[in-house]
Amino acid sequence: MERTFLMVKPDGVQRGLIGRIMSRFEDKGFKLVAGKFVQVTVEQAKRHYAEHDGKPFFDDLVSFITSGPVFAMVWEGEDIITLSRMLIGKTNVKEALPGTIRGDFAAITPHNLIHGSDSPESAARELRNFFEEDELVAYDKTIAVWT
Ligand code: PPS
Repeated sequence: MERTFLMVKPDGVQRGLIGRIMSRFEDKGFKLVAGKFVQVTVEQAKRHYAEHDGKPFFDDLVSFITSGPVFAMVWEGEDIITLSRMLIGKTNVKEALPGTIRGDFAAITPHNLIHGSDSPESAARELRNFFEEDELVAYDKTIAVWT
């Protein structure tokens, strides 16, 4: 079963959207295996967004993600990396379709509410940057839409 790292960004926390965002993944049938508030440090932010180091927006990106608490999560499900990015919608909120999280709730790029890993390699790396192995909870989810 594939895992992904999802993070409600500071704008999503401030706007009180954690519950509604999590519902999208619960409604889809995915399984929550870890979740917690994190005040991201500058070092942690730079590790998380290392692939963007050197881009013109890098400093803004680090400032934004460290500007307040985020809600970090690990979710599990078949093809969850691809499917969760479909649920999240496009980075540019003007291109994010209605029905997606960003399309429904975000009005200003880059205040796009949520981050989702874009590959299995990113997911593994991002997960390790936020969670210890013993924070991931193992349990049976008996009602799953993909079974
Ligand atoms: S790229 O160059 O196309 O790969 O970058 P892009 O996918 O558009 O954006 C990568 C992440 O950077 C965020 N971003 C910003 N955050 C804060 N401030 C500014 N100015 C900014 N510009 C881009 C963007 O939302 C992406 O974040 P994640 O968390 O990966 O969705």
